[in-house]
Amino acid sequence: MSIKDIITVPDETLKKISEPVEKIGVNEKKLINDLFETMYNSKGIGLAAVQVGILKRILVIDVSSKDEKKQPLSFINPSIKKVSNEMSIYEEGCLSIPETFIEIERPKICEVEYIDLNGKKRSMKCDGLLSTCLQHEINHLDGKLIIDHLSKLKRDIIIKKISKSKKNPDRILV
Ligand code: NI
Repeated sequence: MSIKDIITVPDETLKKISEPVEKIGVNEKKLINDLFETMYNSKGIGLAAVQVGILKRILVIDVSSKDEKKQPLSFINPSIKKVSNEMSIYEEGCLSIPETFIEIERPKICEVEYIDLNGKKRSMKCDGLLSTCLQHEINHLDGKLIIDHLSKLKRDIIIKKISKSKKNPDRILV
């Protein structure tokens, strides 16, 4: 396992659409292990392969809290099949956009289909923090960042001057 460099804005790779994974081999398994190690090292709760410069539809998540046992989840070719009308708001950060937190409203519950490490098709119903984190990471696979929820003007200001913002209990880093 190794810790990879996380790419940050304005790296154009972050805007690219990741390719579906056709076969899960040694490289994909190693990539998933590296993503976990890189994510834990950066104190994030989610990381997509594109964030280490690899355009494959793979992401990892662990939303367990500090004092809990680790709950590593990996998703290959994830796609959201259903979302709730009910929404939730978190102040989201992103490992690819340093020191920036943006309030984003997303469906509170989502159902995702994906492939697991053994190539088996699975589905999962996600709620709350896990739902938000998963939607954030799937956005990465489609080249979309949290700053794309803002106007171009605000986005440009953030990219120019990575802003510091206030503390918030629901702040997450994904
Ligand atoms: Ni992110």
